[in-house]
Amino acid sequence: MARYDVNPLGLTPDPELLAAAKAAFAQAYAPYSKFHVGAALRTPDGQVFSGANVENASYGLGRCAEQSAVQAMATAGARTFTDIVVYADSSPPASPCGACRQVLYEFAPDARVVCVNAEGEVLSGLVRDFLPHGFRLEEREDGHAVGTE
Ligand code: THU
Repeated sequence: MARYDVNPLGLTPDPELLAAAKAAFAQAYAPYSKFHVGAALRTPDGQVFSGANVENASYGLGRCAEQSAVQAMATAGARTFTDIVVYADSSPPASPCGACRQVLYEFAPDARVVCVNAEGEVLSGLVRDFLPHGFRLEEREDGHAVGTE
């Protein structure tokens, strides 16, 4: 099976997250691109949150599956996750877009990312492998926020 890993960990999709990502994929609202994506993540205490891409007639307002899953997690009060599975019907598997990488990085730079398709092809790595030098803000003593790696 073809692999497209961005680091040598050779990750495989967690079965529970894969099932949740597939269920979200089935609910994707993508009448414009016709490209469905589902994502599911797990928090350290075992909660699973999923999301699908949700498009809009005003194209720029479309929301990616990964961002939908992170929104669900944060809305529930969770603030980090250990694993995320992204499911799409494409070969190679859909890779998180640049904006999604930054959204994932906000909460979990060290989380495992496994992108998979129906054939079981995998593209995997850590969030920080997908987004080296991601942007962060830290509060300094003088009260000013600064961007850091
Ligand atoms: N999309 C995602 O949901 N996640 C990705 O990682 C890549 C792209 C969506 C956005 C849009 O609804 C559709 O796929 C086509 O770009």
